[in-house]
Amino acid sequence: METTASYLTRRRYRTSRHMRGLCAEVRLQAQGFIQPLFVDEALISPRPATGLSGVMIDTPDSLLETVSRDLADGVEKFLLFPIPKPSSGHSFDFRFAASVISGLRAAFGDDIWLAADLCLCSYTTHGHCGILSEDGSRLLNVETVQVLSDYASVLAQAGADCIAPSDMSDGRVVAIRQRLDAEGFDHVSIMSYAAKFASQFYGPFRDACHSAPAAGQGLRDRRTYQISPLNAGDAVDSALRDLQEGADILMVKPAALYTDIISAIRRETRAPIAAYHVSGEYAALEGLVRDGLADRSAAHLEVWTSLQRSGAGIIISYAARHAKAWIENHIP
Ligand code: PBG
Repeated sequence: METTASYLTRRRYRTSRHMRGLCAEVRLQAQGFIQPLFVDEALISPRPATGLSGVMIDTPDSLLETVSRDLADGVEKFLLFPIPKPSSGHSFDFRFAASVISGLRAAFGDDIWLAADLCLCSYTTHGHCGILSEDGSRLLNVETVQVLSDYASVLAQAGADCIAPSDMSDGRVVAIRQRLDAEGFDHVSIMSYAAKFASQFYGPFRDACHSAPAAGQGLRDRRTYQISPLNAGDAVDSALRDLQEGADILMVKPAALYTDIISAIRRETRAPIAAYHVSGEYAALEGLVRDGLADRSAAHLEVWTSLQRSGAGIIISYAARHAKAWIENHIP
């Protein structure tokens, strides 16, 4: 009679939740999670974000309630997306973003860690992440980085703990670092969107932030500044470049489709890596849940496990506010 040699048996590792828990290599912790927040100057009352179940676009007042609830639920780190009223032309007015940040700081002090997204896409009429040449055909890198540095300074003055540049211009990280240091904000960290791909999976976010590139003349998409999904080497080198320029945390985004990139960066550096499970990835998963085809908490936990297994210690998720409860109640 043939038997399987005892040492070839793998199933003993899987026999019970005790054994699975003991042998687990990944242990998720709520303290590694960041919750994105939207706040829109043009809103009179909060509205649900299209496609992002459970996510609201807040007014400055309702944002305070959202953050209070989130704190009670065990998430204390946030990534803020301020959406200013639509404006015309090229004048950038950062006062709304500043007032939201100082409002949060006044209400919650050090109980929260607040990263502010730094990009011009919800400020520009064309929806691109920087200033375009007159004919709309090119992103002007030098001019863009200048405005981004000004914006970073405003956000730091208002009380942001971290600046998160998501524009993908060259040289922005070093420019922001120097500007912050020169103004006495050497304690403010930078989480750079270091490996940010030109992706189809930002749809719900662009809808929320009115930041889809406008149809018409000029650049139609972000492929001249965001990384090509065909080029893993560019992503790894861009991340290492940002690290050299002074980034403290390197972000990979989207996340679940790019775990190879997370692992590749992890092999090159010990710097913290943040994986951003982006709006389209989240919405796709929530669609399965809505159709009764997946269990919500188990599905998100599986994605998060995959991100951490790949090398990301920080997870940005629209469901971060559930992380503590879901992790606590999870049976391995
Ligand atoms: C803006 C920005 C985007 C996201 C974060 N910052 C969209 C884009 O680059 O078009 C996407 C986040 C998400 O989809 O959840 N530069």
